[in-house]
Amino acid sequence: MAESRKSIFITGGASGIGRAVAVHFAERGWFVGLADINEPGMAETAAMLPDGASSAHRLDVTNREQWSEAIAVFSEKTGGRMDVLFNNAGIGIGGPIEDMSDDDIDRTIAVNFTGVVNGIRAGIDMLKATPGACILNTSSAAGIYGSPGLVVYSGTKFAVRALTEGLEIELREFDIRVRSLMPSFIDTPLLDGPVVSSNQSSRQRVIDSGLDIAPVEAVAEAAWKAVHGKKLHTTVGKLAKQLAFAAKWTPGRLRKQAAGLVLRD
Ligand SMILES: NC(=O)c1ccc[n+]([C@@H]2O[C@H](COP(=O)([O-])OP(=O)(O)OC[C@H]3O[C@@H](n4cnc5c(N)ncnc54)[C@H](O)[C@@H]3O)[C@@H](O)[C@H]2O)c1
Repeated sequence: MAESRKSIFITGGASGIGRAVAVHFAERGWFVGLADINEPGMAETAAMLPDGASSAHRLDVTNREQWSEAIAVFSEKTGGRMDVLFNNAGIGIGGPIEDMSDDDIDRTIAVNFTGVVNGIRAGIDMLKATPGACILNTSSAAGIYGSPGLVVYSGTKFAVRALTEGLEIELREFDIRVRSLMPSFIDTPLLDGPVVSSNQSSRQRVIDSGLDIAPVEAVAEAAWKAVHGKKLHTTVGKLAKQLAFAAKWTPGRLRKQAAGLVLRD
């Protein structure tokens, strides 16, 4: 591969948002490193991309050694170039806090937060070596205002937001830009996971609450704009935009309305 070709390393590249972003960037000539624990899913994503436009890396983002190995192999493929590190892998386990298992809590924090910290530390040398590089982190609308019924997940997304804001300043001297995506509900398999202590999926809960689910392509377009634009945080979906407005201007009303979202069976 020619070193002049831009490259993006995507965690969670086997599904949903990671897959849609892989397709969007590959269609525009980028080389894509897919990283995930789901190998068949990565193969499906790779089959959607032009020949020779991707590499696949079996990577659990919570594992630092696997990060080092994956980044070393990706670096060989791109001649040391990483224009974008897309820290996107995440899990969304919802339910009242007292009903969550300790394992679910630990795993959510490990994947959604520690995984992002690991990625930034593993990728930093390649990013420094690539002029105008960018770290793009998938936060969430749950990182705009604390989300009832989803508080641990929401806390990890606030943490990703904090990393983004702090590093955007800290890494300026290395010409590395840092950005976040803050999507509200997006049509991906993540919404099909069960809500703890309930026999419903998150998707059913969202539909029953009359809330909006945006198409995954909207996130891919937003990722492209975020990487090429000046905005620190990019909201995606009508609900995320409404939430950002309400959190800033009408937080009292927001808290009253959100009380209706606490769903206990
Ligand atoms: N779908 C939504 O409504 C929504 C809204 C806001 C934010 N997000 C965030 O978007 C990101 C992508 O989610 P999605 O909606 O595409 O879900 P998804 O389930 O379709 O994809 C997530 C991917 O992450 C991978 N993954 C999980 N644990 C991993 C680990 N330890 N190491 C490596 N890969 C791992 C999964 O195998 C999967 O391929 C997540 O961070 C999620 O929190 C999703």
